[in-house]
Amino acid sequence: MGPEESRAQHDAGESQDALKRLLALSAAEADRCALAELYQPVLASVPGAATIFAHLGQSLDGFIATESGDSFYVTGRENILHLHRMRALCDAVIVGAATVAADDPRLTTREVPGRSPLRVVLDPRRRLRAEHQVFVDGAAPTLLVCLEGAVGSPQSVLASGGVEVLELPGSSAVSGGISLPALVTALQRRGCSRLFVEGGGRTVSSFLQAGLLSRLHVAVAPLLIGTGRPGIRLPGSLTLADCLRAPHRIYRMGSDLLFDLELGAATEVGTAPVPGPAVQRIL
Ligand SMILES: NC(=O)c1ccc[n+]([C@@H]2O[C@H](COP(=O)([O-])OP(=O)(O)OC[C@H]3O[C@@H](n4cnc5c(N)ncnc54)[C@H](OP(=O)(O)O)[C@@H]3O)[C@@H](O)[C@H]2O)c1
Repeated sequence: MGPEESRAQHDAGESQDALKRLLALSAAEADRCALAELYQPVLASVPGAATIFAHLGQSLDGFIATESGDSFYVTGRENILHLHRMRALCDAVIVGAATVAADDPRLTTREVPGRSPLRVVLDPRRRLRAEHQVFVDGAAPTLLVCLEGAVGSPQSVLASGGVEVLELPGSSAVSGGISLPALVTALQRRGCSRLFVEGGGRTVSSFLQAGLLSRLHVAVAPLLIGTGRPGIRLPGSLTLADCLRAPHRIYRMGSDLLFDLELGAATEVGTAPVPGPAVQRIL
């Protein structure tokens, strides 16, 4: 067995142990089975390749926060636990600058057993203040990713909180954007192959548009925001036939529904398999 295969086998063993620890907290056997199925694609990542997952929690009318940026909380406790489990199973969690500015998140696994991932903040123009929790709490390493030449808080200030600054080239596809393939390569070089994009809408949309997502989790809460910060935004299509309709599984999480979309194999309208009965009362 070569070193890569042996490392992959070791990683797979560690991942299965991590999943067992996470599932041990669920009381009901049915819950454990559903969660094991939901997290299997995270553990089944191919050695050497990056596998990228994303999540958004949105209202029925498609918003992830109010206009003022309030998003505490769109979805319920079960979905929040799901986010912490995803962090525990992935090597890095990625968020956009607006999420750090609005929520000041910690991005740790404090609600579940498991190691907190590398926290990656996309702040191309270095507009965030150095006082945010991810930059000062030292709870996990943080990588601040910006465009080449961007000027911000001195590295010496950030280094005291264990923060590393990574400058990357701009994207040729998105003006003002960071090259996401360059980001993924840089994270792989740091040993991060399971990546979790946790928001907000613009960041998840940029990964989706770049065709980099393996799976997209959209948790829909029985909530109407009316107007606010949108979830996924992509260049539109004139016909539904040109829109993305992916094979999916649906999980109930408390009063929310989680759509687990498989993007590696998106199909055209009308050809996606419909699991189980066409119409089913689940509550
Ligand atoms: N419900 C949920 O699931 C959820 C999750 C997370 C956040 N939120 C909420 O969502 C709101 C923030 O979401 P948002 O869509 O407005 O913003 P966001 O995605 O958090 O951040 C967008 C910003 O991040 C940077 N960025 C993202 N992708 C980039 C890329 N590929 N290249 C370069 N820079 C990139 C850019 O910074 P610059 O603007 O500096 O260029 C961009 O404007 C907040 O109100 C937060 O509370 C909700």
